[in-house]
Amino acid sequence: MSETSTVFVTRKIPDAGLELLRQAGVELVIGQEDEERGLDRQALLDGVARCDVLLPLLTEPIDRQVLAHNPRLLGVAQMAVGYNNIDVAAATELGIPVANTPGVLTETTADLTWALLMAVARRVVEAHAYMVAGRYKLWGPNLFLGSDVGTGASGRRKVLGVIGYGRIGQAVARRSTGFDMEVLAYDPYNRDGIARDPIAAWADFEELLERSDFVTLHVNLTPETEHLIGEPELRRMKESAFLINAARGPVVDERALVRALQEGWIAGAGLDVYEDEPRMAPGLAECSNAVLLPHIASASHDTRSRMATMAAENALCHLRRQRAPNAVNPEVYDSGAYRRRAGG
Ligand code: DGY
Repeated sequence: MSETSTVFVTRKIPDAGLELLRQAGVELVIGQEDEERGLDRQALLDGVARCDVLLPLLTEPIDRQVLAHNPRLLGVAQMAVGYNNIDVAAATELGIPVANTPGVLTETTADLTWALLMAVARRVVEAHAYMVAGRYKLWGPNLFLGSDVGTGASGRRKVLGVIGYGRIGQAVARRSTGFDMEVLAYDPYNRDGIARDPIAAWADFEELLERSDFVTLHVNLTPETEHLIGEPELRRMKESAFLINAARGPVVDERALVRALQEGWIAGAGLDVYEDEPRMAPGLAECSNAVLLPHIASASHDTRSRMATMAAENALCHLRRQRAPNAVNPEVYDSGAYRRRAGG
């Protein structure tokens, strides 16, 4: 690693990550200091052209043009576990390793999934708005009736349906044991894991939708999972069921979801992500049976600091021409394109 190595950090990340890079003698360029503004395309291209390693966030499309903009680029170290904003196939072809930050945000994301689930089932946000508006005048037996998450007075075990049973889906399932729920899981890439799992039982996709009281999504966004939940799937769910999405917005057809919420095909939704983020589909903001958050599933102080540190560690691996342990395209290291780029 030369003394003049530069990492282009597209937008401000937590100090712990920046500090690690500074201590390693790296020159840091931050593309956008204003946390409420994105980085425009030209600034992204200019920054990439001048750096050795790119450290982006999920808000920047890192497509072929960006990746090809600098023949000296040694790697991409994204601060996120999801990397659907990066054209990984193009990066591999161009000999560029891409790394992410898996694992460290699993528990925090599972916590927020439950916060959404509880909030929408028990109408916490609606009731809070009622309080702060000064509308609470008298306790009433019919005030803000919601749905039980545990068995409640019905005595019936509620069914939690987890779609995508990787690290986060499993962490969500683990949290259900205190509620004595029946857990169904669907994940065609982890059939064996589900078969061995002490908490969840395998269910086919349609069965899971039909039987679950809560359907929670934990899949990556890929062409296969885009609009995984659309009108037919929402109509298949129970009218009393809730949909939770803390994965990626385009997994749900948001316009169909708005109709489902307005017309009562399902009881409610808890969303942390949106199809055309940060915009919401028309009508969604007016749905009182939706709890809506601004993509904060991993937003705890500790987790975001750890994600920043991990991204910085990945960036240092790229600069030192070492294999990044979290490379999502590790095959790139055996390619001639990488060797030429890395100069060896
Ligand atoms: C991720 O890491 O992919 C989340 O969406 C943001 O933490």
